[in-house]
Amino acid sequence: MRDSASALGIGILHNPVVPDLLKSDPGMVDYVSIMPDLFWSDGGSGANPRFVESEPWMEFIDWACSRYPLVAHSIGLSLGSAEFSDDAYVEQLADWHRRYGFLWHSDHLSFTQVRSASGQEQNAGMAVSLPFDFEVLALLTARIQALRPRLPSPFLVENAVAYVTFSDEEMSEPAFLNSLVRDSGCWLLLDLHNLYTNARNHRFDASAFLRQLDLDAVLEVHVAGGTEEEGIYTDAHSGPCPEAVWSLLEEIMPCTPNLRGVTFEFHDSYFSIFGAKDVRAQLDRARAIWDRHRPR
Ligand SMILES: [Fe+2]
Repeated sequence: MRDSASALGIGILHNPVVPDLLKSDPGMVDYVSIMPDLFWSDGGSGANPRFVESEPWMEFIDWACSRYPLVAHSIGLSLGSAEFSDDAYVEQLADWHRRYGFLWHSDHLSFTQVRSASGQEQNAGMAVSLPFDFEVLALLTARIQALRPRLPSPFLVENAVAYVTFSDEEMSEPAFLNSLVRDSGCWLLLDLHNLYTNARNHRFDASAFLRQLDLDAVLEVHVAGGTEEEGIYTDAHSGPCPEAVWSLLEEIMPCTPNLRGVTFEFHDSYFSIFGAKDVRAQLDRARAIWDRHRPR
């Protein structure tokens, strides 16, 4: 089931300030992660045309495509919804794969779409985490197996932040992820900041979690920073990575033979306090760790 290909190195997740950053300092990254959903407006099911691409943003993706390898990180598959499926959306993603040659495709292990009692689709407005039980595992496995042939690149699922926990889960998160990888043929996007956030809020040992995870399945890693609000640590993407996240990256580097990239994520709304020099410093930190474990 494994696809093998060469590693890329250090990447950045696109947001509205990234184009200027890259144009002034093109060597800061080896690849760019694109959220396709941000490049179009979606009129919703039945709209014609359904997807309207945003001109200024398209200029950037054409520019980036000619200079960097691109990977796709979508937010609209809502993999964990009980009934949701959106063929037109998947076809739009597949079309963008044909146009931009994304080297892999990831989405989140959560759901956003829910169906109301009247049958209407509604968006929760945030990624809602899933319980780790057999019914959810079977639902996700079938959904990913159906999806994979439609997207012409490895498909990754990203471990989620969970601000609430479920008391009656049937398995641990690492056991759930290992089963999902084995049964569906997907890969993992291991978000170390999501893991750190969960471990800090729910008081468990992130290193012990990683020792239970099939790290051979990790194709991409996300690193980011967050903020504590009233006793809860949030995955705000608000600045530099905590030292503990860098330590987790150091820990997994020797045990992730299929890792192809480490992507830094930050939210553009924090860019006025967390400037270009700070972004570059985070990317350089990630690169120093990468180079130490993957000498060229
Ligand atoms: Fe992430």
